[in-house]
Amino acid sequence: MATTSNPLESELQTLQQQAQEAIATVPNLEELEQLRINYLGKKGQLSQILRGMGKLSAEERPRIGSLANEVKEALQASLDQQKASLQTAQIQAKLAAETLDVTMPGVSRPLGRLHPLNSTIDRVLDIFVGLGYTVATGPHLETDYYNFEALNIPPDHPARDMQDTFFLADGRLLRTHTSPVQIRYMESHEPPIRIVAPGRVYRRDTVDATHSAVFHQVEILAVDKGLTFTDLKGTIKEFLRQMFGEELPVKFRASYFPFTEPSAEVDVQWQGKWLEVMGCGMVDPNVLKAVGYDPEVYTGFAAGLGIERFAMVLHKIDDIRRLYNSDMRFLSQF
Ligand code: DAH
Repeated sequence: MATTSNPLESELQTLQQQAQEAIATVPNLEELEQLRINYLGKKGQLSQILRGMGKLSAEERPRIGSLANEVKEALQASLDQQKASLQTAQIQAKLAAETLDVTMPGVSRPLGRLHPLNSTIDRVLDIFVGLGYTVATGPHLETDYYNFEALNIPPDHPARDMQDTFFLADGRLLRTHTSPVQIRYMESHEPPIRIVAPGRVYRRDTVDATHSAVFHQVEILAVDKGLTFTDLKGTIKEFLRQMFGEELPVKFRASYFPFTEPSAEVDVQWQGKWLEVMGCGMVDPNVLKAVGYDPEVYTGFAAGLGIERFAMVLHKIDDIRRLYNSDMRFLSQF
């Protein structure tokens, strides 16, 4: 018996055909989802067709019903399949876009380097650490007591003239030398002591080729039983030998510092003349007394080196100001 064709049947077939074409050519997942809603959603085209089923006869209803089911399953299968292939394509595209070309030349970042002042400080510290010294530091903002008085420089002492500096209203000052670190360290430690103390210092100095108002020193202090000037001289000579090698001529010259007795200055040859690079001497008994050490039991020696001068001798630099200009043409030579 020939089945009479029903208008719903052909509507379903047309729907299936159109939907499958649309699904097969949809370019992305968002539009695919739109198609699903369009065809299979609650208010979609399939639902609309099925709304007409109420008018069907009892014999036709199951046939059209099962046809509708087939159409629905077929469309769902097409949607699933297209979804999977669009997802794969999306991943492939992402992978292709993010491919790393490991043969491409890198972006080079030039390496930084140490400033010649820092590398000179490091070199001085290394040598003294090698001789058994410990690195110590102190504040840049000092009291009159640590910067002057405890170092045997009372208020009206003429040595203060050479070390005029920047004072705060409360009487504190920017330290004029690293010698106050000696006092601070001795106050909190018992002998034997061997320290090397690097740092920045400040003076009301007129700037020229060998002077700057802000510069760097390294302080040396040794306190023990039985230390003599021979120990001082031997230590300084060994330090200078390691710093400059055997050939550089070195001269000890008698001098005066309030905190050492006797005192000396050390000169090295620089550009055909003698350049003073450090002061030194045996720690004055008054300094030992100020920190509560018995000068009958302990003796010590101390020295203060100007780092800029050392850097200038080491690297044959003609003017101290080059060290502060941040000129890369100069700095990149070190
Ligand atoms: N503090 C002195 C200055 O800045 C340098 C100095 C000289 C330090 C002799 C010392 C020393 O420890 O013994 O001029």
